[in-house]
Amino acid sequence: MHITMVKKIFADGHPCGKCAQAEDLLKKRSLWNRINRIVTAAEANPDSEGMKLAAEYGVELAPFFIVDTGTEKRLYTRVLELINKELKTPPLSFLSDLAAAVQRYASLEPQEILAEAQKKFAEGLAISFSGAEDVVLIDMAAKNKAPFRVFCLDTGRLHEETYTLIDQVREHYGIALEVYTPNPQLLEPFIHKKGLNSFYRNGHKECCSIRKVEPLQRALAGCKAWAAGLRRDQNPATRGTLAAVELDENHHSPDGQPLVKFSPLLEWSSRQVWNYIRENNVPYNKLHDMGFISIGCAPCTRPARPGEHERMSRWWWEEAAQRECGLHKP
Ligand code: ADX
Ligand code: SF4
Repeated sequence: MHITMVKKIFADGHPCGKCAQAEDLLKKRSLWNRINRIVTAAEANPDSEGMKLAAEYGVELAPFFIVDTGTEKRLYTRVLELINKELKTPPLSFLSDLAAAVQRYASLEPQEILAEAQKKFAEGLAISFSGAEDVVLIDMAAKNKAPFRVFCLDTGRLHEETYTLIDQVREHYGIALEVYTPNPQLLEPFIHKKGLNSFYRNGHKECCSIRKVEPLQRALAGCKAWAAGLRRDQNPATRGTLAAVELDENHHSPDGQPLVKFSPLLEWSSRQVWNYIRENNVPYNKLHDMGFISIGCAPCTRPARPGEHERMSRWWWEEAAQRECGLHKP
């Protein structure tokens, strides 16, 4: 296979920025050495080799790639498509070579991570949905046009706006969004004994364990993998060392294997998430328009205060290292 990359030089002599980005991406993924030849399309010179190729293939965008297999020539105008269709190594077996999977997934874009997870696990993959990051994952997974499941844990203490979002997401994507609720046999004795708001006095762990962690076990029963909207910078104290793919020893598939857990947005910032939401018209929780950033249950979430880290608005009466509900145990 022989790959030619056609790069553009604008009429005023400036090199094309998108061509430089494509080159950077290929280098980042150690794929630059797979490009056999680079040809220039000089806008000011219709006789330059690249301009002739552009005319021959009817391409107006730059860069573009021509893959010559010896028997046919294939054209790509998007570098990610070139990577996915021509340069990709086969998906790894997570259980046998986790270290290699961690390394490889660290260089993939979120939508590519999901695409691989969907391809490998199909309905055995569940996306856990509660907020902005998760709707981004659902949007990407839907656009990948491959199967996946979605579930939400209704703690019984969510904001009205969150319930509205849950139904909106169900309708917008036409998905059977599974909603899990707390087990009354655990919840009722807890409330009878400690009241409805014991978390302010005794910490949130017991309430979260009944309203979130136990239902999560049921939501994941039967799954082989799950994906969550964790981002590293949401809580450096507890999420700083995660990887985009991990084995979740807290949850197992029916055949006894630990679930594979994906965090496709791990390296994204909040700004990237919101850019995606705006650019793709993704439904979001209206509480964000009222100053909320990180949203959990109503009694344990407050709007973000000026300059404070987003995680401060969750369980604000507790230490930073305690501000995890237990869904994402290391
Ligand atoms: S939490 O552990 O502190 O509550 P956070 O709100 O940051 O988590 O969300 C991180 C990820 O956990 C979300 O992107 C989502 O995948 C999952 N998650 C959190 N809360 C829920 C919920 N109620 N239902 C389903 N998934 C949830
Ligand atoms: Fe209970 Fe608050 Fe945890 Fe929700 S976030 S389950 S209300 S302690």
